[in-house]
Amino acid sequence: MAKMWAGRTAGETDKLADDFNSSISFDSRMYRQDIRGSMAHAAMLGRTGIISETEADTLIDGLESILKDIDSGALDIDMSCEDIHMFVEQELTKRLGDVGKKLHTARSRNDQVALDTRMYLRDTVNEIIHMLKELITVITEKARENKTVILPGYTHLQRAQPIVFAHHLLAYSMMLLRDTERFTESLRRINVSPIGSCALAGTTYATDRAFEAERLGFTSVCQNSIDGVSDRDFCVEFLSDCSMLMMHLSRFSEELILWSSWEFGFIELSDSYTTGSSIMPQKKNPDMAELIRGKTGRVYGDLMALLTTLKGLPLAYNKDMQEDKESIFDACDTVRLCLSVMTPMIKTMKVRADNMKKAASAGFINATDLADYLVRKGLPFRSAYKLSGQIVAKCIADGQLLETLPLSDYQSFSPLFSEDVYDAVDLENCVSRRISEGGPSISSIEKQIDYVKSRL
Ligand code: ARG
Repeated sequence: MAKMWAGRTAGETDKLADDFNSSISFDSRMYRQDIRGSMAHAAMLGRTGIISETEADTLIDGLESILKDIDSGALDIDMSCEDIHMFVEQELTKRLGDVGKKLHTARSRNDQVALDTRMYLRDTVNEIIHMLKELITVITEKARENKTVILPGYTHLQRAQPIVFAHHLLAYSMMLLRDTERFTESLRRINVSPIGSCALAGTTYATDRAFEAERLGFTSVCQNSIDGVSDRDFCVEFLSDCSMLMMHLSRFSEELILWSSWEFGFIELSDSYTTGSSIMPQKKNPDMAELIRGKTGRVYGDLMALLTTLKGLPLAYNKDMQEDKESIFDACDTVRLCLSVMTPMIKTMKVRADNMKKAASAGFINATDLADYLVRKGLPFRSAYKLSGQIVAKCIADGQLLETLPLSDYQSFSPLFSEDVYDAVDLENCVSRRISEGGPSISSIEKQIDYVKSRL
C-alpha cells in the first residue's frame, strides 16, 4: 500500500528531500581541500596503474583548472548539487567527458568527506595556533609594561592580597599557552589519512594509501577502514579544545568588563572596541568583550551537538555525520573571530594604575603580611593570624589602615611590634617579598615572561 506521503514519481526524490539532504550550502567552503584531495587521488590511480598515467594527468589538469576558476570567481559553485564532492566531480566530467568519470575509482564519498574535513581542520588549527600566539605575545607585552603596577588580587571577588597587574595578565598567558599546546597536540590525531578506506571495507584495487597520504601532507594512514570512515573523534577533540579556549577568553572578557566599570576603573578599553548607548550619552559599553563571553555558549553548544549526534551511531558511515560540519565550521568561525577582536582590544586598552593602587590601599590586603611579620618575630602562624584579624577590626573601628595605625595601638596588641611593622605592611614591600616561584615579585614576573617567550 502506498504511503500517505508518497508524492514523488518513481526514482526521483522530492525537492524538499533533496534540499534536506543537501550539504553544499555549508560544505562548499571545503572546495580547496576537496580538489587537492582529488588531485592526489588521481595521481595515486595513475601511479598504481589503476588508470593510465595520461588519464591521471588529464584529471589533475582538469581539477587544477576548476580550482583556479573557483578561486578567481570564473566558476560559481552550483548550489543545486548535493555536496561539494558531487559538484567537483560533475564539473570535472563536464570539462573532460568520460575520463572525468574515472576519478571516483577506489574511493567513496565516505572516505572523501573524512579526508576533506581533516584537511580543513588541519588548516584551521594551524591558523588558530598562529592567532593564539599573537594574543599571548600581546598579553605578555602588556604584562611587561605593568610589572610594578600594584592592584588587589581577589578571591570570592573580595580584595585578598597584593599582586601586580603583570601577574594577573600572565595567568592568562599560561592558560592560552596550554590551549596552544592542546591544539598542537590535536594535530597529531587530525593528521591521519582516511582516504582509501572507501565506503567502509577498503577496495579490491591495489591502491597505495601511503603515497596518497604523503602527497597530502599526512603523517600516517588510519589503520582500520571502518574506523577511517566512522571516526569523528578529531572533530569532537577540536570542539573541546575550542570550548576550553573560549572559556578562557570568556573569563578574561568578564574581567575586562568588570575592570572597565566605574566601580573598578582599572582599565579603559579603546574607543575602537567599545560602543555607545542609543539613549544614555555617557555610556561606553564593552560590547566586544561581552560578545566573546556570549559566543562561548554557542561553541559549547557546538561541542554538545556533535557529541549528541555521534552518541549511539552504529558503524560505519551514517548520514547523521553530515551534521558534524556546521558545528565545527561554526566553532572555527567563532574562535577566529573572537581571537581577531581580543588581540587588538588587549593591545589598545589603557591601564589605570592609579585606580588599581587606590583599590589596593583599601581592604586590608596586607593583613596576611602583618601576620607573617609576627611569625618572623616568633609567633606561631595561627596565633599571628588571630591577632592580625583583631588589629584589622580595630582599624575598621578607628577608620585607620594598617599603614596608619599608631605604633602604640599595635603595641597594645603585642610587645612584638616595633617601628619596622610599617615596612612590613608597605604594599610595595608586600609584593616584592613574595619571592616564591610563580609569585608577583619582580624577579618572579620576569621569570614568567621568559617562560612564556620560550614556549612561543
Ligand atoms: N555530504 C556528506 C557528508 O557531509 C558526504 C558523504 C556522503 N556519503 C554518503 N554515502 N551519502 O557527510
